[in-house]
Amino acid sequence: MLEGKTCLVTGANSGLGRETALALAQMKANVVMVCRNKGRGDAARREISKESGNESVDLLLCDLSSLAEVRTLAAEVRNRYGKLHVLVNNAGVFSFSGKTDDGFETTLAVDYLAPFLLTNLLLDLLKTSAPSRVVNVSSVAHFSGHIDLAGMEKNETPSGWGGYSNSKLALVMFTYELARRLQGTGVTANCLHPGGVATNIWKVPTALTRPFLKSAKEGAETEIYLASSPEVEGVSGKYFENKKEKKSSDESYDESKARELWDATSKIVGLSA
Ligand SMILES: NC(=O)c1ccc[n+]([C@@H]2O[C@H](COP(=O)([O-])OP(=O)(O)OC[C@H]3O[C@@H](n4cnc5c(N)ncnc54)[C@H](OP(=O)(O)O)[C@@H]3O)[C@@H](O)[C@H]2O)c1
Repeated sequence: MLEGKTCLVTGANSGLGRETALALAQMKANVVMVCRNKGRGDAARREISKESGNESVDLLLCDLSSLAEVRTLAAEVRNRYGKLHVLVNNAGVFSFSGKTDDGFETTLAVDYLAPFLLTNLLLDLLKTSAPSRVVNVSSVAHFSGHIDLAGMEKNETPSGWGGYSNSKLALVMFTYELARRLQGTGVTANCLHPGGVATNIWKVPTALTRPFLKSAKEGAETEIYLASSPEVEGVSGKYFENKKEKKSSDESYDESKARELWDATSKIVGLSA
């Protein structure tokens, strides 16, 4: 069902993103990999193309911690492809400290602000390409997250676990609000928790934890399912785990907070609300 469709995956050089890009390439999609490092991106692109037998696998470079680079990426996608059927916002980090060059806490910038801005800048393309899908890779960590709008507006946001769980909750609430705004357009938006997966995101030694974690191939199953399966055609505004719809946190269903979050984020990233 994806043959000839244009599918973009961020963070496609490793872990879940790499497995997702490979699976979509095997389904004969035109795959656009978004990576921040040319060496790692090129190596993964060559492997994915070879393993899938699909030559239509492109690499676009973008450091998603930079809002300016996200804008350039969106313009490049628009100019080069003119259509977009699947957008998988997969890239993510877990940062214990540090600010981006734009001055935002790194996890918030990469895991939430970047997908918010990229998706909004590509919305018209997704609409003219409908039926199309947005898939946001969140986490079960969002259950311990909280949206502090005042903190976000003052650019006082935590790093570490707080930054990660808040960003993943913001991503869930963005997904639900996006789905409400996209009703009737043929564009769906869903989010997911992949499970605990042995990938590079966990900087702790994985030798100890690996036996309890899924492989990247297993972990990517839900995002591949949401990106490609006919079973979820038309399904929108839901949170999934193990390819099944699940309830997300109570706070994630607060619609008025989701609207406020949308407006505040639009201001932060420089979009008109
Ligand atoms: N693994 C888990 O247990 C787990 C659980 C819940 C949710 N998740 C989510 O799953 C998603 C994929 O993570 P993963 O587990 O597959 O980890 P991963 O192997 O570390 O992959 C993360 C990807 O994001 C890219 N990335 C990070 N910062 C970036 C930036 N500034 N600009 C562009 N790309 C950037 C990485 O690029 P580099 O290779 O260049 O660093 C990498 O390709 C993330 O959103 C993560 O939060 C993972």
